[in-house]
Amino acid sequence: MAKHLIPTRFVVVSTVLLFLCQFISCQEEEYVRSLNPKRHLGGMMKKQKLSHFKFYWHDTYSAPNATAVPIIQPAGPSPTGFGSVSMIDDPITVGPDLKTSKLVGRAQGLYGIASQHEVALLMAMNFWFVEGKYNGSSISIMGRNQVFNKVREMPIIGGSGLFRFATGYAHASTHTFNLTNGDAVVEYNLYVLHY
Ligand SMILES: *[C@@H]1O[C@H](CO)[C@@H](O)[C@H](O)[C@H]1NC(C)=O
Ligand SMILES: *[C@@H]1O[C@H](CO)[C@@H](O)[C@H](O)[C@H]1NC(C)=O
Ligand SMILES: *[C@@H]1O[C@H](CO)[C@@H](O)[C@H](O)[C@H]1NC(C)=O
Repeated sequence: MAKHLIPTRFVVVSTVLLFLCQFISCQEEEYVRSLNPKRHLGGMMKKQKLSHFKFYWHDTYSAPNATAVPIIQPAGPSPTGFGSVSMIDDPITVGPDLKTSKLVGRAQGLYGIASQHEVALLMAMNFWFVEGKYNGSSISIMGRNQVFNKVREMPIIGGSGLFRFATGYAHASTHTFNLTNGDAVVEYNLYVLHY
């Protein structure tokens, strides 16, 4: 009889502890504890939602207002330009016309040609919003961009502010591209799961 009592007690105690951990924080290691997500993020973490953002990304190499700067040249001859890297601080606007359209944020980061066989970029950039309720929040993109394809898909790997715990994907399609100077306007559609 006594043999069975100890395991039963143990099971009851650990069940109660597990239940309590839903409401209070529990230490797992010296440097880790589990938190109740609703308590930690307050009213923010009510319900996950899916938002669709559509805007235009302006990558300008031409003077006088360049927002994209080549920072690394290809190491050797390559048909794709493999190895070249640009740093960007590109405006993002509601419509395709940079001069007349409303600025909603900036795409800051870098991209480089990461393929020896196609013109495929590795994009690492943050969409930093400066407008409305998303002012100050950002969405991070890290993905492969085969620029001459009609639609390219890149993962949304996270975010800050209103985009904490964000996940999702972006679809990019070229609106205009000037082969002579490299200037491009790209339509971005973001599908973001966030709180
Ligand atoms: C460059 O920026 C200045 C200041 O914002 C602006 O007045 C000018 O029209 C811009 N030039 C071009 C070619 O966009
Ligand atoms: C965005 O936030 C910054 C910093 O808080 C503030 O200076 C700026 O006026 C805000 N912009 C808009 C459009 O609300
Ligand atoms: C493309 O860039 C070249 C060189 O800057 C310029 O002369 C030309 O007008 C541009 N084309 C378009 C369609 O903007």
